[in-house]
Amino acid sequence: MDDCRLVTFQEMPELDDLSGSVTTPAWPEFMMHDNVAEQGWGAMITAFPEFQFGLFDPQGKLAAIGNSIPFYWDAPLSQLPSEGWDFVLEQGLRDHQAGRKANMLPAISIAIHPDWRGQQISPRLVNGMRQIATQHGLKGLVAPVRPSLKSQYPLIPMQQYAYWQREDGSPFDPWLRVHWRLGGRILHIAERAMRFEAPVADWEAWTGLRFPGTGDYLIPGALTPVHIDLESDRGLYIEPNVWMEHQLPDQETDTPAPPSP
Ligand SMILES: CC(C)(COP(=O)(O)OP(=O)(O)OC[C@H]1O[C@@H](n2cnc3c(N)ncnc32)[C@H](O)[C@@H]1OP(=O)(O)O)[C@@H](O)C(=O)NCCC(=O)NCCS
Repeated sequence: MDDCRLVTFQEMPELDDLSGSVTTPAWPEFMMHDNVAEQGWGAMITAFPEFQFGLFDPQGKLAAIGNSIPFYWDAPLSQLPSEGWDFVLEQGLRDHQAGRKANMLPAISIAIHPDWRGQQISPRLVNGMRQIATQHGLKGLVAPVRPSLKSQYPLIPMQQYAYWQREDGSPFDPWLRVHWRLGGRILHIAERAMRFEAPVADWEAWTGLRFPGTGDYLIPGALTPVHIDLESDRGLYIEPNVWMEHQLPDQETDTPAPPSP
């Protein structure tokens, strides 16, 4: 997969429309309804086409999409907020509106079309993020990472799950492992990285499930239970992610270098 081609939305504006062919089968429907993304995703694509990209396979088919939004951060990375994913989207847009020069790039989404999964192209996408950050002179690459197997362990706290290891000392979760193998290291847990609050009927439409009573439900693809409250007609899902840091060439950080895998 070395001969895959990375193309930004700036280079190919029609990628914005084409990206749905990858992201729709990649995500459970509810993941398309993060409250902050519903307000800001379109604005991000418009403002930062050079930070969105597609990966084309050698036959010219779109195999994967990567999204990111630069933001300004001058505090220690240990203080990156618990609202990880939602925070960077809002902060990146605020910085853009204020004309503030960004210095950090967060990888906020990497999605591979199911046909191209399991072929080890995911490291190429993380490196694509790294390449874009470097090209734009940003000093750091961080990511509110969504561990890909966590949905199979929805009752285990992220604080515990994120640090599970295999016998060889590598992270248990395959997606955390990809980041780790590329030099990424865990900073801390973003307990409230994404927020999804919507009427119960929306949750029923997104999941194909019925929610006859108030309570916590395990929903396919969700990393923790979703709380349904019939009285207030709200379903609330708060998704935890894992803040990770990647070193970039010549990067100066407030933290020690990660151990080599
Ligand atoms: C997460 C994602 C990018 C990983 O890409 P992938 O093509 O599935 O995985 P890769 O072939 O690159 O393999 C990466 C690792 O995952 C492991 N893996 C892949 N599928 C797996 C599965 N179903 N169960 C367990 N491990 C799996 C691989 O063995 C590999 O680990 P190893 O190198 O230590 O053996 C891809 O599955 C995806 O797009 N998922 C939907 C969107 C998403 O969750 N994005 C990440 C959060 S932004």
